[in-house]
Amino acid sequence: MPTETVYGLAADGLNPSAVADIYRVKGRPQDNPLILHIATLDMLYPLVVIDGETDALVRRLAAQFWPGPLTLVLPRSPRVPDIITAGGPTVAIRMPSHEAARRLIALSGTPIAAPSANLSGKPSPTLLRDVVDDLAGRIPVILDGGECAVGVESTVIDLTHRPFAVLRPGGVSREALEDCLGEPFSDVSSPVKGVPVRSPGMKYKHYAPSTPLTAVCAEGSVSLAYILQKPVDAAVICFDEYVDNFTAAGFLALPYGAEKDAAAQAKKLFSTLRKADRTGASHLYIQMSPDKSGCGAAVYNRALRACGGDIVTL
Ligand code: TXA
Ligand code: MG
Repeated sequence: MPTETVYGLAADGLNPSAVADIYRVKGRPQDNPLILHIATLDMLYPLVVIDGETDALVRRLAAQFWPGPLTLVLPRSPRVPDIITAGGPTVAIRMPSHEAARRLIALSGTPIAAPSANLSGKPSPTLLRDVVDDLAGRIPVILDGGECAVGVESTVIDLTHRPFAVLRPGGVSREALEDCLGEPFSDVSSPVKGVPVRSPGMKYKHYAPSTPLTAVCAEGSVSLAYILQKPVDAAVICFDEYVDNFTAAGFLALPYGAEKDAAAQAKKLFSTLRKADRTGASHLYIQMSPDKSGCGAAVYNRALRACGGDIVTL
């Protein structure tokens, strides 16, 4: 199903054998829990066990960000199957805003479990063709919802203890969350050596194209100068402003948004990674902004994972 973030691989979230099919089709490790998608706030309460104080916070967040790209991790109720939570005590819940997703959930009358609809490890799909490339022949139906508006997955936050934490940056910025609740969030989305990961998905190799990718994190004119030194059989995922410079030097240039427009970059990042992979280039470079404010945090996080740590900071 399409959502405003990325396409999701959907199944009845209260049916363990349907959910088992999700893991099988994606090749997803069984210890990585899934998000349940709801269409109305009423659908939340049977799935969680929360006190009045937490409920007030949830309502404040929901009023501002739902439906939309925000996922809440809360203590689970016994109704949630173990296979959704990977046996853990919490469940992740989101109310998507894409009309097709909302209607599918409402018509199904059940929360829908949906990870991103890519094969495990590949970039998330933001176009119908990307779902087809990964999953054709493995699933019965794809709902065509056009290009996903946000382009990176939802922001996942843990509300089970303080300080509240951003487990995965996404379409809703940490700044906006802090403004909404009037308290600081910690950012635990980058793995720190020796500290256990709190969002199991973050420990896996992710979003990686098959072609080796180097991220060059710097102001655009600086990353341009650096990449121009490299052999021209590379393809460059670049800021819109530099297409002509790279093309004139003989590189294959694939623009993914203006340098200062992190929201545009978020929307195009995954589809451009997939496109770059199809060019047959022997190496890929991506111009990456060091600005991690707003949507920039999500772009930075995904590009870092896509390059598998092969990052040059100038
Ligand atoms: O935008 C999105 O969130 C998309 C669309 C389809 O809704 N879905 C998505 O699902 O990105 P997935 O499965 O690819 O990523 C879910 C992330 C994973 O990193 C997973 O580890 C984390 O959420 N997660 C799920 N349940 C959790 C829990 N109970 N505690 C901590 N992290 C959890
Ligand atoms: Mg995913």
